[in-house]
Amino acid sequence: MEERKGFGSNFGFLMAAVGSAVGLGNIWGFPNKMGANGGFTFLIIYLILAAICGFIVMLGELAIGRKTGAGAIKAYKVLSKKFKWVGWLGVASAFFILSFYCALGGYCIKYVVLNFGNLINAGFGSNGLSGADVFGGFMTNQLEGVIFGLIFVAITMIIVMGGVGGGIEKVCSVGMPALFVMLVICIVRVLTLENAVDGLKYMFVPGWAVANGVIEEAPNLFSVISTAGGQMFFSLSIGMGAMITYGSYLNKKENLEKNALIIVIMDTLIALCAGLCVIPARFALDPTGKLGGPSLLFVTMQNVFDRMGSVGPIFGIIFYLLVVFAAISSSISLLETVVAHFVDKAQDEGKGDKRKSYSLITTIFVAILCVIVCLDGLGSNGVWVPFQHLFAPDAIPTFCDCWLDFFDCISEGIMMPLGGLLMTLMLGWETGPDLVKEESEQEGNKMKSFGYFKFCVKFITPLCMALILYGQLKDFFGGLFV
Ligand code: PFF
Repeated sequence: MEERKGFGSNFGFLMAAVGSAVGLGNIWGFPNKMGANGGFTFLIIYLILAAICGFIVMLGELAIGRKTGAGAIKAYKVLSKKFKWVGWLGVASAFFILSFYCALGGYCIKYVVLNFGNLINAGFGSNGLSGADVFGGFMTNQLEGVIFGLIFVAITMIIVMGGVGGGIEKVCSVGMPALFVMLVICIVRVLTLENAVDGLKYMFVPGWAVANGVIEEAPNLFSVISTAGGQMFFSLSIGMGAMITYGSYLNKKENLEKNALIIVIMDTLIALCAGLCVIPARFALDPTGKLGGPSLLFVTMQNVFDRMGSVGPIFGIIFYLLVVFAAISSSISLLETVVAHFVDKAQDEGKGDKRKSYSLITTIFVAILCVIVCLDGLGSNGVWVPFQHLFAPDAIPTFCDCWLDFFDCISEGIMMPLGGLLMTLMLGWETGPDLVKEESEQEGNKMKSFGYFKFCVKFITPLCMALILYGQLKDFFGGLFV
């Protein structure tokens, strides 16, 4: 049988795994959720959850992947009788996330082009329109939305077709350091703007946002915990098999425990850096701009660049390009999670390397869902959304208010936290945590955190996961079922 080709180096693996983790969730989800949920309080809770859930699930998934040397579906099948179907949950979840992730990635490409248009004063720039008008116009221009979405889908496919070492590792090893440099350039520019300090206060001073009328009321502790938990899961790419898949390509001599820790720390650091760029920019240059949702990234930030004067388009290009990089390094891990299963299956059946064909077939299905999300334009175009007709127009719950939220609810709301919960139950109570110890201690490595891991994976992490799942359902279904 042909050898399964993996990462060429630990650095390449780390860049790919950090690339998967660092994405739209960091650059846009983290800053506004942190600001709207008590700033520093949110950060502390996030860090605690990252330590007792994020690190545990990350290490567990990497170990499961490397032990079985297989993608999510086969990995669960090999390891467990009771949980053998959980891998399917992960792969389905990756597939649904891809649908809206690619649409948003396409929007980011559009904004690189838009800022380039502004730089050279071309007709495809903002043409003097406000950020809100440009975005509104783009959302209702279905053809343009679909074209940019499909460009993003195609880029993702081409990289995954190149394989793990040839495509994913190469792109991330260059893209991630480049992303970091671009982020630093943006932070330096933003923090030297007048009033940028208010953004820092919004993020880091508990109660500042409420006291200054930026948000209406302080969220309660449960809602902070559930928001931070949901954010952490999505941001770390855990609970759906991406890290199982990447772990399966990792060399046995590499230190799993150290790698899991580095990924969690890097992801959190980059989320904080993104906050240092996006939020102070909004306070300095668009003080009335929205702080949450798609408007933050596409309306507020575009207003910021429009108000920076002649250098604005240059910073706009750098910023949106970095978001495109972040989104691509995440979307390739999502596609790989799905494709790896079929590639492995074909190889097990002696059909040879079918990576290119399976990448193409999966991409076609992803493209179809992505087109639906783009046509819908975040609900701007009156496209039919499942279940929406059951509710009065002013009482539509989040899960069906547009196609993006519908797919997000299925994946991020239900499948991901459920997958994470079931994974910890499997490791804690069926296979036993020794599985992770054995795998971590391959080739002379020592698992220093085993006592801690064992206690968390059996008791603490599943409990937190159940709470996070409940919180997610509450957010999406708003009082309907929970
Ligand atoms: N972690 C990515 C982000 O923060 O945007 C999203 C993501 C990527 C989730 C890959 C899940 C995944 F498998």
